[in-house]
Amino acid sequence: MCGIVGYLGKQQAAPILLDGLAKLEYRGYDSAGVCVFSDGFCVRKTEGRLRNLSTQIDGGAALQGNLGIGHTRWATHGAPSDINSHPHVATNGKISIVHNGIIENYLALKEFLMKNGKTFVSDTDTEVAANLLEYLYEQEGDLLRAAQAATKQLEGSYAMGILCIDRPNAMLAIKKDSPLIFGFGEGENFIASDVPAILKYTRKVVYLNDGDMVDFTADSAVFYNSLGEKVSKTPEMITWELSAAEKGGYPHFMLKEIHEQPKALCRTIHPRIKDGKVCLGDLTITEDYLRNIHRIYIVACGSAYYVGCHGKYILEKICRIPVEPVLASEFRYCEPVLGEDTLVIIISQSGETADTLAALRQANSLGARTLGIVNVVGSAIAKAANDVVYTWAGPEIAVATTKAYSTQLSVMYLLAMYMGELLGTLSREEYDAMLDAMQKLPEQIEQIITDENLAKISAIADDCRDNHDVFFIGRNLDSPTCMEGSLKLKEIAYVHSEAYAAGELKHGPISLIEKDTLVIAVACVAELFDKTMSNVKEVKARGANVLGLTTEDMEEEIRKTVDRYILVPKTHPLLQPSLNIIPLQALSYYVALARGCDVDNPRNLAKSVTVE
Ligand code: G6P
Repeated sequence: MCGIVGYLGKQQAAPILLDGLAKLEYRGYDSAGVCVFSDGFCVRKTEGRLRNLSTQIDGGAALQGNLGIGHTRWATHGAPSDINSHPHVATNGKISIVHNGIIENYLALKEFLMKNGKTFVSDTDTEVAANLLEYLYEQEGDLLRAAQAATKQLEGSYAMGILCIDRPNAMLAIKKDSPLIFGFGEGENFIASDVPAILKYTRKVVYLNDGDMVDFTADSAVFYNSLGEKVSKTPEMITWELSAAEKGGYPHFMLKEIHEQPKALCRTIHPRIKDGKVCLGDLTITEDYLRNIHRIYIVACGSAYYVGCHGKYILEKICRIPVEPVLASEFRYCEPVLGEDTLVIIISQSGETADTLAALRQANSLGARTLGIVNVVGSAIAKAANDVVYTWAGPEIAVATTKAYSTQLSVMYLLAMYMGELLGTLSREEYDAMLDAMQKLPEQIEQIITDENLAKISAIADDCRDNHDVFFIGRNLDSPTCMEGSLKLKEIAYVHSEAYAAGELKHGPISLIEKDTLVIAVACVAELFDKTMSNVKEVKARGANVLGLTTEDMEEEIRKTVDRYILVPKTHPLLQPSLNIIPLQALSYYVALARGCDVDNPRNLAKSVTVE
């Protein structure tokens, strides 16, 4: 969480910083600030959204200077407030920093620094880091040496942009466990938490590694590794367009990303199918290895975890290997039994979720083989996993995931087929049927998101806007879809909702059903349709208002039991979840709109959760 950006060149820094921060707001948006170097540090920071800051400094025009750092915050240490916002300037005004991450030992460091004359005005860990840097700078007389010494004392994660009052033409940036990129311009250079922040100005970037530092001016950049040795870095060229990270005429990123799903799925699936076979590029998993694994864990957070829950059904069915989906935050502390005979699949859009990354490192250290399903290229999880399969969904900006989720699910199918083929557990017939169905998914998603269908879903959403409690029920593969549908509704529409395996209703939750309670019944697993309908009847008998979701061929059947229904095209049974989730994403979107919520930036959330 939190986004940082830095600029040094010939242009006025502040407008560029604001522009960059606008692209990073998905990382946190409870306050924002900039520090520009002109005659000295000129800091402007304010609680609330970036537009407040922008208004305050006249879109950046009010701040002179060609060197600056900026920050958009998701509060960890101290409430969102002007004082707690970044940048933070150290006691004697020599150091100003922006920081993404958490300094875990900040209290001990603060005590030490206070004994050594440093004073604090905020509750943040970042102000401690600023003062530590200043303290060490005052001792060493050199910022680089001070930063190298600071990294030995700072515990936790950080990407920092550091300005020093004695260096009006230079910036230093350091990174550990939080993302940081360096962008090369012509007579100007940049740092940022993510590519979209600087893509307008340069496509030439370096993804910094943990422990790296970069000391740069407008015309030069010197990189150092964790040992303090100078290293040369070869820049990578970003090939995607900035428009991929802009709204492109849609009112919200979420709606745009819902519409991007057909294309995203094409990108994920098509290049991986060659001559009627699934090819997963660099994947190094062999038949021998697969024959010797006894368990697969799928570890992730949030929606990615629900993809893992789907993965259990899909992989077990196809590969006949036991699969256990586990929340990363639980996996870390449950002493998992891991070894060479365990495959740990890690799923993450951002590739930087703190718990997921820690679980991956734990799995690596215990000798398990790890495979990442990741969207952000070059991210920490992509780098740390033994194998990585990218989802290629393109940048996802809305906090609530849609296209990343869908592409993760597609990779799960590809992986299951790939492994099933190696193991010989998937018949040629079934393999071909899945392959065929998978290639049709993008077109079928298009059919779900036509204007006409979305208008129907929007009308249903208008009727649902005042429901305080919603229950999602479904069986088998419909069960994780319910969990994801329910999460979406909570996240962006602030509606209390629960997802239950339909068979579990009678073991408790049915006592919560009252007249007009909204129950959303997902009944897309053909062989369990009747059983789910029995559960629907049970809740209807207690007054529930039921919205059904099923496949087109079941229209006649479902209309007999539910109050309203949504239909999706039918596909191969294992792939059906890819279609079922689409109307639920749209439903949450329209309920959020109807309730006047900030769809893309829901309260208290951030897209990249880089804290435990
Ligand atoms: C946050 C996001 C979710 C996401 C989860 C895991 O909670 O809002 O959309 O599923 O983090 O993030 P990851 O980047 O690891 O997929």
